[in-house]
Amino acid sequence: MAYRVPRLRLALRRGYATGARPSHLELLGEIHPTDSITNITPTIISKLPLRLHTQLGHPLSSLRARIESHFPDYTHLSSFSPLVTPFKNFDELSFPADHPGRAVTDSYYVNKDLLLRTHTSAHEVDVFRSGQTKWLLTADVYRRDEIDGSHYPVFHQMEGACIFPQDASAMKAVEEHNAQLSAHLDSSNIVIEDIPHITAANPVQPSHDPRHSELVAMNLKLSLNSLLLHLFGGVSGATKEEPLRVRWIEAYFPFTSPSYEVEVFFRGEWLEILGCGVVRQATLDRADVPDKMGWAFGLGLERIAMILNSIPDIRLFWSKDPRFLSQFSADPSKITTFKPYSRYPSCHKDVSFWLSEDTKMHENDLCDLVRDVTGDLVEDVKMIDTFTNPKSGRTSQCYRINYRSMDRSLSNDETNEMHSDVVSRLKDQFGVEIR
Ligand code: DAH
Repeated sequence: MAYRVPRLRLALRRGYATGARPSHLELLGEIHPTDSITNITPTIISKLPLRLHTQLGHPLSSLRARIESHFPDYTHLSSFSPLVTPFKNFDELSFPADHPGRAVTDSYYVNKDLLLRTHTSAHEVDVFRSGQTKWLLTADVYRRDEIDGSHYPVFHQMEGACIFPQDASAMKAVEEHNAQLSAHLDSSNIVIEDIPHITAANPVQPSHDPRHSELVAMNLKLSLNSLLLHLFGGVSGATKEEPLRVRWIEAYFPFTSPSYEVEVFFRGEWLEILGCGVVRQATLDRADVPDKMGWAFGLGLERIAMILNSIPDIRLFWSKDPRFLSQFSADPSKITTFKPYSRYPSCHKDVSFWLSEDTKMHENDLCDLVRDVTGDLVEDVKMIDTFTNPKSGRTSQCYRINYRSMDRSLSNDETNEMHSDVVSRLKDQFGVEIR
């Protein structure tokens, strides 16, 4: 048994139980070797071929079509592979070497040279390099995350960008377009809280003419405000007295400056729905279009569809239940308000354990384990207690796992069986001592 601890430790970093990591994985018809950082799980692998954003009649696909129809003169792309190099996902977009997004706790790695894209921005340089100047790209993206009603490890983003020649006549056209857009943005049942578009903390890039950057940032905001009006202007439930509230806030992204986020107020909280900004010149230089400048955005389709279609839980997008899917029309111009067919009882179970001294377990590791055992039968996972014994230095944690199916009632036996599988995998995979 002497080798057991080191072997276990190695296995933990991989995210696979001891000895369980296959030497190769077949992903979208291609064989890829695994290595010591492989952490993509069977549950995630099963999602790769689904591409919900292209399934006719699916609310994510209809939303994609609705946004595309708002930008009719843009090129619409939606078939890029989710497997990208860390270079494409991060370095090419000027992410620093120590950015937390690169960590194995946050992203799904096939091996050290390949991961599942964490955002659609991963394709920006390739699309710009191919000569596109106005484009939308929709795709599935993957992030290791907590389990609750608005987070899922696979979700869908749309990237959009528009770049212009940096010369006086192109900038004059931007100015005219801005005037047109401003004239169209009149009042409706939506309140947009705006902010100054360039500030000292959210600066113009040194290589940009400040007047050009101002026009481009303005064009970005006007274009997105008009998209938000198109999407949310007629949203059900928004009235003159209680309009839908949207706000712009300053943000930071490694690949834009100035940068912004847009949030929508929904069910008592502000939900971030998009990030955007003036594209960093380094990105355009890498794409061999150094003489252009422009803006880009990346928006989360689930968040927007949840608001537009009143979908209460992000797991529903993955439901194969006809009571979900049949509610949505294949005609993207029709916005269906989802009618929940039933809310089945939930059952929570707690698990308390001492963390092992030689292995680390991140909350995202636990959530991946739970998803692997239960599929979509867990509604949320919350840490409800943590405690470090001052004498021994050992840490104990208690998590509450809330079991609830979207489609049916779970039997006690079934819930107990899943929970005991979760507990035994916690022991095997992370060496925890159950209390
Ligand atoms: N990729 C960013 C994210 O996933 C969103 C984003 C921000 C996209 C700024 C952009 C952008 O194109 O310009 O959080």
